Amino acid sequence: MEIEEIYADSLKALEVLRGVIHKTPLDYSRTISGATGGNIYLKLENLQRTSSFKVRGAYFKVWSLGDERKKGVIAASAGNHAQGVALGATLLHTKSTIVMPEVAPLSKIEATKNYGAEVILYGKNFDEAEGKAVEISEETGKVMVHPFDDPKVIAGQGTIAHEVLEQLSKKPDIVIMPIGGGGLISGNAIILKKKFGDNIKVIGVEPSYAAKYSEGLKTGEPVNIKNVPFGLMDGLIVKNSGKYTFEIIKDYVDDIVKVNDAEVARAIFLLLERGKILAEGAGAASVAALLEGKVNVKGKDVVAYITGGNVDMTRISNILNYELARSGRIVKLSGTIPDLPGWLDIVLSKLAQAKLNVIDIRHDRITHLIEPGKALIEVIVESSAPEAIDKVIEELNSIGVSFSKIVP
Ligand SMILES: Cc1ncc(COP(=O)(O)O)c(C=O)c1O
Repeated sequence: MEIEEIYADSLKALEVLRGVIHKTPLDYSRTISGATGGNIYLKLENLQRTSSFKVRGAYFKVWSLGDERKKGVIAASAGNHAQGVALGATLLHTKSTIVMPEVAPLSKIEATKNYGAEVILYGKNFDEAEGKAVEISEETGKVMVHPFDDPKVIAGQGTIAHEVLEQLSKKPDIVIMPIGGGGLISGNAIILKKKFGDNIKVIGVEPSYAAKYSEGLKTGEPVNIKNVPFGLMDGLIVKNSGKYTFEIIKDYVDDIVKVNDAEVARAIFLLLERGKILAEGAGAASVAALLEGKVNVKGKDVVAYITGGNVDMTRISNILNYELARSGRIVKLSGTIPDLPGWLDIVLSKLAQAKLNVIDIRHDRITHLIEPGKALIEVIVESSAPEAIDKVIEELNSIGVSFSKIVP
């Protein structure tokens, strides 16, 4: 594999992509800088066309096929690659076929169709869909566009690094980005290391539950995941290490850190609340690593890639509720009151006096879990002041209503 060729291709890709995709903002984040002690800049690829960086590599790969693209292209993906290939091909007047697992979310299927692809639903998981895509490619001559293990795709993803250097107009000390199959970090690391060598650190972030490259680098041998887990960082859950990407990551990436879903949920919440930035799980992984102090960034100029923003609204609401509950801004209280008229009103009045907004309430008298003559109440309240809740609990307890927080 020619590293020089990938570097030269990344410059070509920069030209080819100009005017086709967005030059996404590179924004200084006061919040994350304040929280970490570094100067943190966010490269907002969640604002890219198709809401992820994937269109860079996909478009450049399809463009590079030249006349061969008349045969059409095919890919297997349930995620951002699907949309990247679909849009890339359509913009280049090329037919695309995307094989998605039967369980792919409807929103992703619709989005991929809307970008112009023919979508085939096949198999229970990504591997089965990929097998089908290979079969169709062999039968029809449609060209496979691999999501990461392809030098052209790698070069296309690398264009982010060129853009960042143009936008920052100084050398960053650290550039941090997520790793799934490794195409993104391979392209970017080649460019950053070629320009600055040891004077720049390229750091990758993997999910703790799918950490192929962290494991593989320990032994020097590529690792494949046996049981593909489910998690928030779905874009980073990739079963097999790539042939090209493993070698590049081994030679060009300085360190790989791991984050879990709770850490990523916190990062998504903070990005949305403070920065008004909507990131998906994979897209928020680098910020999670920074906020959790997994990389020492004190006094350093750091660029973190927010790689995508494709996240279902149901999942966002789940993440927001999780974080609100974890941080004590939504609290569940449970207790028993005498089963007599007026007691529910007493509880609600106390909560209202303490300015605790009731979101939900459940009242259960038909249960053997409490003493006879009592009623069970569960209340969910919103609170910006956790002390107010402790005070109300104390007051209620003092008048014979035993209340406590379900989750402290
Ligand atoms: C949002 C997002 N971030 C990061 C990645 C990881 O990219 P790569 O597979 O090239 O490592 C992906 C891959 O699909 C992604 O969708």
